[in-house]
Amino acid sequence: MPDSNNNEVVEYRAFTLDDLPAAHALSASVKWRHRADDWRFAARIGSGFAAVDQNGALVGTALAFQFGADAATLGMFIVSPEHQRRGIGRGLLDRLRAKLGPRMLLIHASNEGKPLCVERGFETIDTIHQHQGAAFQPPLVSLPPGERLRPIGAKDTPRLAALASRASGLDRTELMPQLLDVASGIALDRDGELIGFALFRRFGDGHVIGPVVAPESADQSRAKALISYWLALNAGMFVRIDTPLRYGLSSWLEGLGLPLVDTIEQMALNGKPSTDATFTQFALTSQAVW
Ligand SMILES: CC(C)(COP(=O)(O)OP(=O)(O)OC[C@H]1O[C@@H](n2cnc3c(N)ncnc32)[C@H](O)[C@@H]1OP(=O)(O)O)[C@@H](O)C(=O)NCCC(=O)NCCS
Repeated sequence: MPDSNNNEVVEYRAFTLDDLPAAHALSASVKWRHRADDWRFAARIGSGFAAVDQNGALVGTALAFQFGADAATLGMFIVSPEHQRRGIGRGLLDRLRAKLGPRMLLIHASNEGKPLCVERGFETIDTIHQHQGAAFQPPLVSLPPGERLRPIGAKDTPRLAALASRASGLDRTELMPQLLDVASGIALDRDGELIGFALFRRFGDGHVIGPVVAPESADQSRAKALISYWLALNAGMFVRIDTPLRYGLSSWLEGLGLPLVDTIEQMALNGKPSTDATFTQFALTSQAVW
């Protein structure tokens, strides 16, 4: 469907797998570190729109990731620097909103994206701290009595999906098996019951720890033990973790040598996720899928 944006005609159409090479170049043009594989994963679990110029060149992307019938997260929302401020971002966001209807929509809004999200009715619900680095000191964290870390197995997938859903407030039934295809995991076990976990996977220039799900405690020792497990195994590697400000892990991460590199707002339209009082998501899977 062609659309005129400040005298430039742009066409919007469904994003396809054929767009992946150009999409990868597009994200590099705004200094995002996604690998081709990161885009492939996003396109496998999400769908959305491409904006193309009169020559058919890709100038913008926006994907949605649906979680159950009632919620979706938005991500991979990019307009090429040469085409920004001409209404293409608005055109992409409005098409996603029309496609997704009245369900709850969630987005991690950058400084450039936030004014548009506010214009379309999104409200800030939380703040995320992005920590990353390679020069960290893996700490030793002890767990409460009766609790231990153990490898996850294939039989754990339904329980991991259930915990991830409760902690994020988003239905992770379909996401979890896809995630486990590309991630490794460690489980937190209490007397034979799986009560938490942390996944670890390649992303961008290095690796991501997330999601991290566990019960809260005064010192957050369970989340810290899960994160420390992956740090200890990957000393000297570039590792990233995105954590909600309110759980207070930021100063601990800074102290380990994982500096805060960005602060980003979580925004929501048509409600916000109802999370569980027992299980907490201490680190995002990614900004695109929360
Ligand atoms: C965010 C982004 C997709 C917006 O795309 P865009 O095509 O430039 O956006 P639009 O032209 O439709 O802008 C719509 C409105 O958003 C606001 N806006 C867009 N870019 C802005 C900026 N850099 N600073 C302040 N406001 C901005 C303005 O209100 C604008 O309306 P106006 O131009 O009539 O004043 C684009 O800036 C981008 O790709 N940024 C880098 C990647 C990124 O941050 N993505 C995450 C987005 S949540």
